[in-house]
Amino acid sequence: HLADKGNFSHFMAKEIHEQPQVIRQTLENYLNADKSGLQHPPLPFNWQDISRITIVACGTAYYAGLVAKYWFESIARLPVEIDIASEFRYRTPPLIKGDLAIFISQSGETADTLAAQAYAKTQEQHCLAVVNVPESSLARAVDCVFMTHAGTEIGVASTKAFTTQLSVLAVLAIAAAQARQTISQNDYQHHCMALAQIPALMDEVLLCEHKCREIAYQLSKARDILYLGRGTSYAIAMEGALKLKEISYIHAEGYAAGELKHGPIALIDDTVPVIAIAPSDALFEKTASNIQEVAARKGRVILISDAEGHEKFPHPDFVRLTLPATSPLLSPILYALPVQMLAYHTAVIKGTDVDQPRNLAKSVTVE
Ligand code: G6P
Repeated sequence: HLADKGNFSHFMAKEIHEQPQVIRQTLENYLNADKSGLQHPPLPFNWQDISRITIVACGTAYYAGLVAKYWFESIARLPVEIDIASEFRYRTPPLIKGDLAIFISQSGETADTLAAQAYAKTQEQHCLAVVNVPESSLARAVDCVFMTHAGTEIGVASTKAFTTQLSVLAVLAIAAAQARQTISQNDYQHHCMALAQIPALMDEVLLCEHKCREIAYQLSKARDILYLGRGTSYAIAMEGALKLKEISYIHAEGYAAGELKHGPIALIDDTVPVIAIAPSDALFEKTASNIQEVAARKGRVILISDAEGHEKFPHPDFVRLTLPATSPLLSPILYALPVQMLAYHTAVIKGTDVDQPRNLAKSVTVE
């Protein structure tokens, strides 16, 4: 039976744990046999002819798009505009004929996303959908479909759909970079192989679940929680905050670490947990200096990093989650997991209805 929780207490827990398997399944469709190159559906355009990408989505899918913006810009040197569908559709933004618009949706039925796609079509965009339901309205409306193979997602708070979306968007960004020759053949192979390693690394990340549960006891007592990150970790910070508020009903905000000093630092005291998403990448030192500011104001820092990051930033009072080292490009796919587990366990401790949080729907098919 499809709707079977197996040994898990909630669909969300089951879906969190399915991630290594569904990412593997998804990548099987997009990586060649020796994992050193990509294969994908034919594209109705040439990457060289695209001058700008427009990405539109809602909710968690929007945060997947935000990660992809950083990817397309950094490795494929393509300008990307991103917006939430409910804003995009009424903004009537002028788009250059023949450019690419990407729509991301688990269900393929979100009303605002469908309307945004219809608008993009009037602007003569090539429309590509990253979608989990093959026969959905969105899949049928676009010129090109890149499937996520997450299987049925039942928990209202999206987990495995998000990380499969990220995996498919990584494939698209790497494909664009290769076609536009903005990366070397070596880097191309390196990125493909790093992608192939994600499922095994995810298995490792899932082992920190007991630690997430411990941290969740602390989070469950908080009134406000701040998530910080830079670069693609900024998107994961916002996704982490969304996940937490959706299912635990604790107020949370995701903020760009560098923006902390322009407002939210005023909220910091010893009652506010601050979750820092900080893999040891090129931006680590910058994020670390923002976390230092939090610590100086007695904020309760929870640092999510790898062994190298923790070593670089010894501080006796930090609560720490250690993830395996990964390629800096693909870290958001791994760092999505601890924020899901923190939200999940916080909600379980609070006793909320994890799979069916109040006021929320799995798919928002009306405006
Ligand atoms: C609802 C769901 C979210 C989801 C969003 C977009 O708000 O509760 O989990 O991210 O819709 O849904 P879609 O199916 O378009 O990805």
